[in-house]
Amino acid sequence: MDCTLQIFLDDRWVDCAQIELNDGLCQWNHLVMYAVEHTDAPLSLAEPVDMDIRAARTMPAFLYDLVPQGAGRRFLLGELKLPDGPGADFPLICAGAFNPVGRIRVAEAVDYFETHVARHPAARGLPGLTIDDVVVRSAEFKERMFLHGMLGTGTTGVQGAAPKYLLTRDRAGLLHGDAVLPDADATQHLIAKLPRGNSPADDKVLRNEAAYMRVAAALGIRTHPELPTLHGDVLLIPRFDRIARDGKVVRIHQESVASILGLSGFDLRPSLFEVVAGIRRVVTDPAAETLEFIRRDVLNLAMCNTDNHARNTAVQRVEGKVQLTPLFDFAPMYLDPQLVPRVLRWYRPDTRVELTDWGDVLAALAVPDHERRMLAQELSRFAVQIERLPDIMEAQGVDHDVIGFLAQHVATQVRQLKALQPPEAHHAPSDPTLP
Ligand SMILES: Nc1ncnc2c1ncn2[C@@H]1O[C@H](COP(=O)(O)OP(=O)(O)O)[C@@H](O)[C@H]1O
Ligand SMILES: [Mg+2]
Repeated sequence: MDCTLQIFLDDRWVDCAQIELNDGLCQWNHLVMYAVEHTDAPLSLAEPVDMDIRAARTMPAFLYDLVPQGAGRRFLLGELKLPDGPGADFPLICAGAFNPVGRIRVAEAVDYFETHVARHPAARGLPGLTIDDVVVRSAEFKERMFLHGMLGTGTTGVQGAAPKYLLTRDRAGLLHGDAVLPDADATQHLIAKLPRGNSPADDKVLRNEAAYMRVAAALGIRTHPELPTLHGDVLLIPRFDRIARDGKVVRIHQESVASILGLSGFDLRPSLFEVVAGIRRVVTDPAAETLEFIRRDVLNLAMCNTDNHARNTAVQRVEGKVQLTPLFDFAPMYLDPQLVPRVLRWYRPDTRVELTDWGDVLAALAVPDHERRMLAQELSRFAVQIERLPDIMEAQGVDHDVIGFLAQHVATQVRQLKALQPPEAHHAPSDPTLP
């Protein structure tokens, strides 16, 4: 079985690489013309554009960012009549990766989608929906879902466990399945995210995700200028991997941390020290992105967002600069009925023992000393903001019981961050009356 990858460059899809999977061996290479002409546009920041043929027992790590997950995966397995398992990943890409997040797609999946659309002529040229149609799952919405079989709304192109649809707004402000609205008509790209399950706790997590994102923005974490908004039980999230401008759509390179670390497969658990090292290898400003990543982790700990796996952090390349994407999937995951533990932790590189104090983490971080001092200074300043977190959460509409639950976690972060104050900062004259 083989497939051809395409990348979106200068307003068109360009064939760029070939993948072959035979008897458990995966070989892939860039197309010669692509390798000659596009050395500046890699498929993955961890894979230089060259003429090499790579071979391995697994698919290359960046392909796992394209594998349908969650509801889209289940739907497509049914269509393909395939049992689930790692062996399904490649066929799922070949059918489902026709319109993924980011700027890479699979040519065979585009054919699969077009065949599917041809079987449902009634699904062509349908009028757009309002967000209320989506919220109440109106009859029109259900019919659309059936006709498009979840494909037209991009469910197979976006990862994660919660059901989602990729929606695009037209010039009249109405919503369409992302894969069915031509670029020329698009004005805004959105992800509609539904609760993970049917329990009240699932609703609560999603409701608070909107407030959590506002809190992160208020604290100066990098967020998309347009924050998610809640409509009934649907969270409408503006996408940061697309820009609609002058009747054209720009697709932006986006790649998970799992991909830049070369992790082939799901649920692999690198130490957070490896995650930081991986991010530093590819970003334009390693010091700034290290600080951004650690601040996000402070918030994960203070606000008990336990779901910090290697696909919930990603990098993007915008205007030639590689950086962490704006924050996403930031929510009170400690409430999730499926008990989501904090999967990635700071395991000390030499002993593999977990470090749970920022002073120890900074000491073990592989950065130049001047940067370590900068990090300590910035993080001790961040402590002042974290101290105000309960008020900020209140102002941004986080549920009261959540704020109450987090009090001790916030206090731990404040205490640890304040202790990072470098000794030079304590040069007050010694007071003999103090103990
Ligand atoms: N605003 C966004 N713009 C572009 N891609 C996004 C955005 N938010 C999420 N994603 C992508 O969609 C995936 C699923 O979204 P996420 O919020 O993580 O869902 P889940 O809660 O199901 O894990 C993410 O892993 C990321 O690749
Ligand atoms: Mg996620």
